[in-house]
Amino acid sequence: MAHVVSIHAHGGPEVLKFEQRNVGDPGPKELRIRQTRCGVNFIDTYFRSGLYPVTLPFILGQEAAGEVLSVGTEVTGFQVGDRVSYSTMGGGGYASERVIASDAAFKVPEWVSDEVAAALTMKGLTAHMLLRQTFKVVPDTVMLVHAAAGGVGTLLSQWGSYLGATVIGTVGSDDKVEVALANGCRHVIVYSRESFADRVKDITKGELCDVVYDGVGKTTAMGSLDCLRPRGMFVSYGNASGPVEPFSMLELAKRGSLFATRPMMPHYASTEAKRDAMAAEFFGALKDGGVKAPPIKRFALSDAADAHRELESRRTAGCLVLVP
Ligand SMILES: NC(=O)c1ccc[n+]([C@@H]2O[C@H](COP(=O)([O-])OP(=O)(O)OC[C@H]3O[C@@H](n4cnc5c(N)ncnc54)[C@H](OP(=O)(O)O)[C@@H]3O)[C@@H](O)[C@H]2O)c1
Repeated sequence: MAHVVSIHAHGGPEVLKFEQRNVGDPGPKELRIRQTRCGVNFIDTYFRSGLYPVTLPFILGQEAAGEVLSVGTEVTGFQVGDRVSYSTMGGGGYASERVIASDAAFKVPEWVSDEVAAALTMKGLTAHMLLRQTFKVVPDTVMLVHAAAGGVGTLLSQWGSYLGATVIGTVGSDDKVEVALANGCRHVIVYSRESFADRVKDITKGELCDVVYDGVGKTTAMGSLDCLRPRGMFVSYGNASGPVEPFSMLELAKRGSLFATRPMMPHYASTEAKRDAMAAEFFGALKDGGVKAPPIKRFALSDAADAHRELESRRTAGCLVLVP
């Protein structure tokens, strides 16, 4: 029997249930994994609340790392004992053991711990999508990153700075300013008490940004458009404050023929080969030191609800993992 954290109804953190489940044997193309660390992502709160509807009951969690316990009869490329991680959109991650399609799994490089792999596989692929594909950051790029001390925000700031961009970060409280600076932000704006659009205008001497990476959504979207120079790109990749409200396409026109996109990682990591290439480049950046693992806070799997409370209260910097 495995321990899992599931939901039987949508709602707040109180709907999370710590339960036991049978895992079963892997199918022909599947692996059975004993998970040592389960990553916590803001997206887990969307599945929990019902913002992203799912069929109930549903085991939360989209990324984890652990050891292969058994392999399906048609699996090639994995053996019992391999260390693996994965990032999916299908749930099932908050578990001590699970079965997963073998083509969703990566072998974890030997120099990466299970904890780092569980915390960063989804966030690293997301950062790759955003910086290397959605808008290709180059040395003279000026980029704004919201929530620059958060999980994905940390990677965007570090990697963008490593690629030579000028990174402007926003954070929700003064205690996160040092974190964002250490992440490579050249300028940090505390957007809970300052108009970030006015500050971006001052910092860039009116030149504004080539790209805004906005995972905050509802409360920042229109201000983010104000931070873009003509033909700049609004990359709205998340909804931490709620989904972006509908706006007229003329808002893009009047600010200078802006581009706006709402990328989702599975559409970029859409084949095994693409996922592998994205993961290889991300883990390469981690090895080179271009990206460094952020602080990782641990919670017991049975305390997953506390991890959600902490993430949603904006008290966290870096990443959270669950320990089965
Ligand atoms: N599109 C994709 O494929 C994809 C994939 C993975 C993740 N994402 C998105 O990436 C974003 C970051 O995910 P993450 O797991 O790394 O989370 P995170 O950044 O560690 O946490 C979210 C941060 O958002 C900020 N925030 C602003 N307003 C908030 C509010 N009203 N409530 C809660 N937080 C608020 C907080 O930072 P401050 O206090 O500094 O403001 C908070 O720390 C999320 O929007 C997620 O949906 C998208």
